[in-house]
Amino acid sequence: MTSGSTDYRDSGLVFPESFVFGSATASYQVEGAVREDGRGQSIWDTFSHTPGRVLNGDTGDVADDHYHRVEEDLDLMKRLNLGAYRFSIAWPRIQPTGRGPANQAGLDFYSRLVDGLLERGITPVATLYHWDLPQALEDEGGWTNRETALAFGEYARLVGHALGDRVAVWTTLNEPWCAAYLGYALGEHAPGRTEPRASFQAAHHLNLAHGLAVQALRAVVTNDPQFSVTLNLHALRGDGPTGAEAVRRIDAIGNRVFTGPMLHGTYPADLLEDTASITDWSFVLEGDTEIIHQKLDVLGVNYYSTSLVRMRNGAGDAGGADGHGEFDASPWPSADDVEFLPQPGPFTSMGWNIEPSGLEELLLAVRAEFPEMPLMVTENGVAFEDVVTEGERGRVVHDDDRIDYLRRHLTAAHRALAAGVDLRGYFVWSLLDNFEWSFGYSMRFGIVRVDFDTLERIPKDSAHWYAQLAATRTIPEARLG
Ligand code: FCB
Repeated sequence: MTSGSTDYRDSGLVFPESFVFGSATASYQVEGAVREDGRGQSIWDTFSHTPGRVLNGDTGDVADDHYHRVEEDLDLMKRLNLGAYRFSIAWPRIQPTGRGPANQAGLDFYSRLVDGLLERGITPVATLYHWDLPQALEDEGGWTNRETALAFGEYARLVGHALGDRVAVWTTLNEPWCAAYLGYALGEHAPGRTEPRASFQAAHHLNLAHGLAVQALRAVVTNDPQFSVTLNLHALRGDGPTGAEAVRRIDAIGNRVFTGPMLHGTYPADLLEDTASITDWSFVLEGDTEIIHQKLDVLGVNYYSTSLVRMRNGAGDAGGADGHGEFDASPWPSADDVEFLPQPGPFTSMGWNIEPSGLEELLLAVRAEFPEMPLMVTENGVAFEDVVTEGERGRVVHDDDRIDYLRRHLTAAHRALAAGVDLRGYFVWSLLDNFEWSFGYSMRFGIVRVDFDTLERIPKDSAHWYAQLAATRTIPEARLG
């Protein structure tokens, strides 16, 4: 597919010397080896093995087999000139049931990974939670149970103790919005529950887990790392006279429910009011917001597309562009009166609109609200239907569309930098094609293709393009010679 407007087309833009070019993955999406070396079961094992939950019945049992191919993948990262690698740690590899002593084999795997990165001059950026909650904790209520947050603090301590002399950036959570609302309200992600009140409880306990984890890490690390969290902040645009109100509503449930307590130390008053018919927030206990409000060194922002919203006009209009009508499960509890409108293309294979200017807008908006906070784009990338062809030296993927997407978004990031945003780095999602949650292996986000039959890695043209960018800090031409 091709991208429409050409207003962000540019090349030759140079990024600052200290700007980091990395790539990201997540444990369940790439590792496989789900029953090895003492790993316990996670909610994604359960969910993906439940018929009808994941497209084509795909599971993460094998995924990219990264667990066994870690050396090969590290060499690949080196060849691609990556300055940093953002990976996540599978909680059930460290504590198979989410509690108790650390499983040494689990720690050893991540220790080898971190050493392998450092040997190759690649900065390790570790995320503690990219959605693979130990199933044993879900059996006791999962994120709706306050105990899960406390257990997470202990897990952070164990990991920090083992890796806290080498990891450069610690990220507590990846996209708690997805964990809370897709997991507990919409039910499209594990654990697949559809309980609106529970999703706010989950959001709060994720926030609490974040605060407890930063405290625990800070107490044990020895190498002066940076602390962060990664949020998929929603880039919202309002439509018509009710647009501003709709944006405020979604911004509260989607963005400020996290940034409020984490960065301002309080839940926004309008969020509590808007959601009053569903919850009284009595699960927020005295002292919680102080725990959540930890000093952070950098905020990770994931960006893929924009949302266009307005208020619904009256009854009977139950379905929006997201297909979540008043009577269906929705990832936006208490906001059935907000309508998500279709947006102009072009679109990715996920059906997400391609809108690089949304990234610039988002970074500027975050800077306006948190002027002192350094930022990192911790995910940005695209799924397209890649075509493999036989080249002179083996199989190749000419993914010009992905190069174009990356180029436009990096240009938008560069514009934000030029406007004074303290942007420290960019991580392309993803290094490898992988298990894309409820879409299984049908969506390919990698700059490296993975043949899911042979597990062979084939760097796509975008990987070569990105390697040149990482080496030169200069946005290359659309096509490489
Ligand atoms: C983000 C997730 C990541 C990946 C991309 C496409 O929401 O953090 O794991 O699935 O979307």
